[in-house]
Amino acid sequence: MRFLVTAGPTREPIDPIRYISNRSSGKMGYAIAEAALAAGHDVTLISGPVNLHPPRGAQFVQILTSDEMFETVHRHVHECDVLVMCAAVADYKPQTVSPTKIKKDNEHLALDLVPTRDILTSLPPKNRQFLVVGFAADTNDIEENAQKKLRAKNCDVIVANDVSSATSGMESDENEVTLFFRTGESEKISRAPKKIIARDLEKKLVKFARKMFDKKNVTITERN
Ligand code: CTP
Repeated sequence: MRFLVTAGPTREPIDPIRYISNRSSGKMGYAIAEAALAAGHDVTLISGPVNLHPPRGAQFVQILTSDEMFETVHRHVHECDVLVMCAAVADYKPQTVSPTKIKKDNEHLALDLVPTRDILTSLPPKNRQFLVVGFAADTNDIEENAQKKLRAKNCDVIVANDVSSATSGMESDENEVTLFFRTGESEKISRAPKKIIARDLEKKLVKFARKMFDKKNVTITERN
């Protein structure tokens, strides 16, 4: 199959030297790209700025902003069988970007932020030829928020993880996730290193994708 994986944070510029971003390390997305490659899939990895080496064998696209992520996902999504939106795309960006460095004047400074475009909700909701997998990073009401995102963002699967603890989720080497499928089922992957979680995730996603594609009579690209 052809996997399109997004990973890492986005950076939303404020002026030439400052930006808004988040703590995403990219480890989970990179581990998924590596697991998919190891299982023999074609992989395109769209990555925000992280301190990781691009996996060997993947087509690699580096982006910075949520707008670049949006355009790049749309450019590649019709060539994939499974889209894994693991990236922590910024929800807001500064309304205007100052062309010059904003000077300090010891006064209160307010930044006007506007919502970024949501990539998942911008995808066609029906008759898709690819599986859409979203991630739901939350600190509370994990299952409830994941189920809401599954529906609101028209995903086939949502991978929910609790980012409230330092030992799993963002920046950590370990994770613990629950998959919620649009069919109503759910499956938990217990706490383990992200590389192990990624291998399990790849298997579960491929199994579900085959089931969905069989039902829709969609032909998938198999390399092996
Ligand atoms: N996502 C997206 N486009 C955005 C923001 C997020 O496609 N502009 C995707 C993420 O890649 C992830 C999913 O939406 O797969 C959920 O992201 P998350 O940050 O958990 O949810 P939000 O919709 O941003 O909601 P909130 O931050 O309020 O929890």
